[in-house]
Amino acid sequence: MRVLVAYATKSGSTAGIAKAIGEELDRMGLATDMHEVSEIRDLSPYRAVVLGSALYLGRWQKEALKFGKRHADELRRVPVWLFASGPLDRSAEETDIPPVEAAVELASRIHARGHRTFGGRVTEETKGFVAHSMVKQGRGGDFRNFDQIHGWAQEIGNELLATPGLAAS
Ligand SMILES: Cc1cc2nc3c(=O)[nH]c(=O)nc-3n(C[C@H](O)[C@H](O)[C@H](O)COP(=O)(O)O)c2cc1C
Repeated sequence: MRVLVAYATKSGSTAGIAKAIGEELDRMGLATDMHEVSEIRDLSPYRAVVLGSALYLGRWQKEALKFGKRHADELRRVPVWLFASGPLDRSAEETDIPPVEAAVELASRIHARGHRTFGGRVTEETKGFVAHSMVKQGRGGDFRNFDQIHGWAQEIGNELLATPGLAAS
């Protein structure tokens, strides 16, 4: 079985989360590709998809939402999980932060099996004037918790491996 981890990022933090998910699934024996949504044309090789986006101003990146809509028919036929990367504090470790409205709609359209919000990252390398001001004001930092991310990937991997017929396909 091949798994796709697709993501939309502005400054790379969400790519880091996607990579961590993909590496964990690979480690579990599930061959996994990680790609930015703009690089993906064909979903036919994949038996499961994890789709994630950075959050900016309370929204998913439009590329990720477009990807979800464009491939909705294919996504509906395979197990799909969604994730977002955002909060610049420890809140995503302490509570299950619900998906933003457009992600709720997408989840319902493609019958996603689950959603998780992970902490985000804003540093000097993050693009944009606002991000740089946030860092100067001490509101930046890296709040991605890779133990939490690996744990979620393991839940997904276990569910896929337990699905009759899927692991062998
Ligand atoms: C201008 C700006 C707006 C942001 N808005 C949100 C937001 O509404 N919700 C949130 O959880 N995080 C927000 N963040 C934090 C980013 O989502 C977080 O840093 C994310 O990890 C960035 O991902 P990327 O590096 O993949 O682009 C914002 C960051 C910036 C710089």
